[in-house]
Amino acid sequence: MSESVTDTRNTDAHYFPMDRDSRCPFAPPEETRQLREANPVSRVKIWDGSTPWLVTGHAEQKALLSDPRISVDESLPGFPHWNEGMAANVKMRPKSVFNSDGAEHTRFRRMMTRAFTFKRVTALRPHVQQTTDELLDAMLAGPKPADLVAAVALPLPSLVICQMLGVPYENHDFFQENAVKSVDRYATPEDNMQAFGAMFMFMHELVQEKMSNPTDDVLSDFARQAKDGEIDAAEAAQMGLGMLIAGHETSANMIALGTLALLENPEQLAIFRDSDDEAVLANAVEEMMRYLGIIHNGQRRIATEDIEISGQKISAGDGVIMELSSSNWDPAAFPEPAKLDLRRTASHHTGFGFGPHQCIGQQLARVELQIFYSTIFRRIPTLAAARPIEDIEFKSDRLAYGVYELPVTW
Ligand code: HEM
Repeated sequence: MSESVTDTRNTDAHYFPMDRDSRCPFAPPEETRQLREANPVSRVKIWDGSTPWLVTGHAEQKALLSDPRISVDESLPGFPHWNEGMAANVKMRPKSVFNSDGAEHTRFRRMMTRAFTFKRVTALRPHVQQTTDELLDAMLAGPKPADLVAAVALPLPSLVICQMLGVPYENHDFFQENAVKSVDRYATPEDNMQAFGAMFMFMHELVQEKMSNPTDDVLSDFARQAKDGEIDAAEAAQMGLGMLIAGHETSANMIALGTLALLENPEQLAIFRDSDDEAVLANAVEEMMRYLGIIHNGQRRIATEDIEISGQKISAGDGVIMELSSSNWDPAAFPEPAKLDLRRTASHHTGFGFGPHQCIGQQLARVELQIFYSTIFRRIPTLAAARPIEDIEFKSDRLAYGVYELPVTW
């Protein structure tokens, strides 16, 4: 250990997750900024009284997220679970892309990334455009004000992921409700297990059905691999479930929260409304990803060996939490981070994570966001929030940050 390294367990550690300041709803919590300035790798206290490390610096996060001594194995003692439900049910969760490392992770990941070939995602563009237009048509034909979350933000990514996976969209109420319960910060262990179990059974039955009657979709690809004995049916169901959960709530929050942020910054909104340059639009979406920081409750990890970083010693067995939203407001990586500047280069953000577990669906999410932001303001130039921002309720009880509702008028 170098002389400058400290290993003090700070009993006065800040509680994590921290609350955001309701006056600056887009900014990460002020305490994360203070912590980063004190030391971007600091101890915090979490729900079970343990004191894992919280990483709030951009460079430190990238270093640790790509460090093989950092594991996602949630079954190891000391793993900093998200809540009591996640800790209590850890043994019931099968191995998947989310909780495996090394060769095991590569095996899951390869099977899933096949689904997201550039060709397949590019081929989805017209479908995403058409779905966006149809949802906006329906909203415009209905009463004012309309809730943008229910009208477009949630159905758009759900329809797209259902189509891609081959999950009947009629079941969306069932899986949206259970997906929310399975990642709710305050869900009881029973609720958490019940929600996860119900979704798993649903997906397992669908895989069985597709093993007998395959169609042209990703779940049928997984079912075919299960039939050929490359994976078992439970693994196929687990992969499908992971994509279904990861693939709609995240994009939905980006769509609704992003719309609100753009309405608050009309000169930036004009870029989405007026530019026909695909490169400008693509760049603008990267800045939205940086600025909004919807994945704000920390990616959970555990150290498997001792690591020295930022003058701290992370010991083997210590929990480590990567707070992505605060690192995307680290001025060392993004000058004037509080400014939404769609022309800046923000492609080094960690909104989709970094390292081996970086988001598998990021190209799909980008397509959805590029099409949505550029379509809505062109089609509805008079779009406005129907409530002052102070009266909008922001959600912090889920894995992803966003708004419960966004009443809009035009
Ligand atoms: C704007 C939308 C999205 C955001 C902000 C987002 C964010 C993230 C982040 C931060 C991670 C890294 C997790 C970690 O390191 O612990 C991740 C992983 C993942 N995402 Fe996304 N995601 C989005 C959309 C999607 C979509 C559309 C899909 C699939 C259809 C998807 C599937 C996955 C999967 C399977 C992983 C796990 C990868 C692994 O562990 O190797 N995501 N996502």
